[in-house]
Amino acid sequence: MCGIVGVLGNHEAAPILVEALKRLEYRGYDSAGIATVNNARLDRRRAVGKLVNLSDLLVHEPLAGKAGIGHTRWATHGVPNVGNAHPHRAGGVAVVHNGIVENFRELRAYLAEAGIGFETDTDTETVALLAQHFCDQGHSPVDAAAKTIAMLAGAYALCFLFDGHDDLLIAARKGSPLAIGYGDGEMFVGSDAIALAPMTDKISYLEEGDWAVITRTSVEIRDSHGTIANREIRTINIDTAQVDKSGYKHFMAKEIAEQPTVLQGALAHYINADATGVALPAPGLDFTKIERMTLVACGTAFYACMVAKYWFEQIARIPVEVDVASEFRYREPPVTPGTVALFVSQSGETADTLAALRYMQGKASKIVSVVNVPESSIARESDLALPILAGTEIGVASTKAFTCQLTTLAILALNAAHARGQMDDATLAKHLADLRSLPGILNLALGIEDKVSSIAAELSEARDILFLGRGAMYPLAHEGALKLKEISYIHAEAYASGELKHGPIALVDPHVPVIVMAPRDALFDKTVSNMQEVMARGGKVLLITDQKGATEASEGVWNTIIMPEIDPLLAPILYAVPAQLLAYHTAVAKGTDVDQPRNLAKSVTVE
Ligand code: F6R
Repeated sequence: MCGIVGVLGNHEAAPILVEALKRLEYRGYDSAGIATVNNARLDRRRAVGKLVNLSDLLVHEPLAGKAGIGHTRWATHGVPNVGNAHPHRAGGVAVVHNGIVENFRELRAYLAEAGIGFETDTDTETVALLAQHFCDQGHSPVDAAAKTIAMLAGAYALCFLFDGHDDLLIAARKGSPLAIGYGDGEMFVGSDAIALAPMTDKISYLEEGDWAVITRTSVEIRDSHGTIANREIRTINIDTAQVDKSGYKHFMAKEIAEQPTVLQGALAHYINADATGVALPAPGLDFTKIERMTLVACGTAFYACMVAKYWFEQIARIPVEVDVASEFRYREPPVTPGTVALFVSQSGETADTLAALRYMQGKASKIVSVVNVPESSIARESDLALPILAGTEIGVASTKAFTCQLTTLAILALNAAHARGQMDDATLAKHLADLRSLPGILNLALGIEDKVSSIAAELSEARDILFLGRGAMYPLAHEGALKLKEISYIHAEAYASGELKHGPIALVDPHVPVIVMAPRDALFDKTVSNMQEVMARGGKVLLITDQKGATEASEGVWNTIIMPEIDPLLAPILYAVPAQLLAYHTAVAKGTDVDQPRNLAKSVTVE
């Protein structure tokens, strides 16, 4: 949800800002803009749409100066036009913002009373106007920014730049992440460390309520009480190759193909070398004391939680509740003693998930998170953070993070089952060995790509598509439908196969493809019966199963995708691959923007 960047450099800032914004574009691409101070003069350039439009503009209307700020926008308040694009400027103050200023109406009223008018529909403009208002009253830029920040409610990561000051940035964080990068006589600000990776690997993260006064040679951070705060400077290891497409047409294609490799890394991290046990980071979890678990997340991460519910309940016998984060906290659920709260998030910054985590602090006996970004707010605010080690995920549609989330959760469930005496040593070792063979099986599964691409050419003609699954394949059906709709814009819905006849079967006709995800497991026959009910009504079925399943049940279906055989417990991880590839190739056939689908952003840091 918007990416922001700031530079106090020794070289021209514009190219550095654009390069950093390129790395942040996954956070939003409704518009982009930069502002610089050159010869003490503040100026800005903004363009609607993707960053490339800003780059084109800068060719014709370059912006000089070694100090600057930049923004890539996911619109919250106001349509994506140039006027609403950041940086917002009021007189001699320019501001970039990620988040939502919730009290912007009151602030507007306050400014209106002072005779100050507005030019945009955004909440952010009020921030620039307030700062300029305080400068007009004779306050220094630092004091003006401090007074402004103190008046803001809501969520923000902010960076201010001032006319006449080419060695000053003011950055603030509340609810949205913000990193400061330390260079050699240079300083940087960015929404994440990836944005700053080409400039520096020395990063400190602002904490909630922090604000910082930054010059080329100094950073002074204050906490929400105004007390000087020391924030650790860490050396971050970000492989810059991870943010290249490495020859693939899209990041999503690259990230799907990377799954065997990243899973191998995650497995090596959590499973002992002799595959007999699980190693969790300290302080670990005492599963014998857990009465129940509450799993909370959004979107794809929520479907990972849904799968994990089957695992924790079936093999570890722990009662599990699963909820979408945006509903969870407003329901104000009572929390019984012995409840472990587990939050799953790729970015670790999703606003609803973070808020749900904070709701559970002091109520749950332990807060556990399963995250991809170890420095994220969700990771840092957990008692135990389990990294999924998927590497940087750039494609807006989550792929490798999903399979790594599932793998981490499967390992945790096995660990729980063993600790609670529900699984003996030999069975644990067998499942861990099966897990270790997963990268190889995933590699095999990627061999279905040509077949999927020819099927996708036909699917791309559909207006509506249904996904069916039973047991742990039901969440996979949801994941398949979500992936498809978000990148191909085809309407897709998922149903538990047994639920179809209770209403949704009325949707079935020859023009609505029905994708059935059914490995040959204990529930296969039941799913096949539901599939027959669809075919009896003229439904066009695509069956995704293994060779045994295909031999038994593919008669009369429109098409079959044959997956490698796998232990049923791990089938949800494997069947993510056809779900992802179907969505990917359908989107490619439709010519949509696979990596940056319309209206979406990668990291949803607003409610
Ligand atoms: C879908 C997708 C989203 C995210 C969701 C949660 O492909 O990527 O549904 O899964 O926004 O994001 P994180 O995992 O960062 O909390």
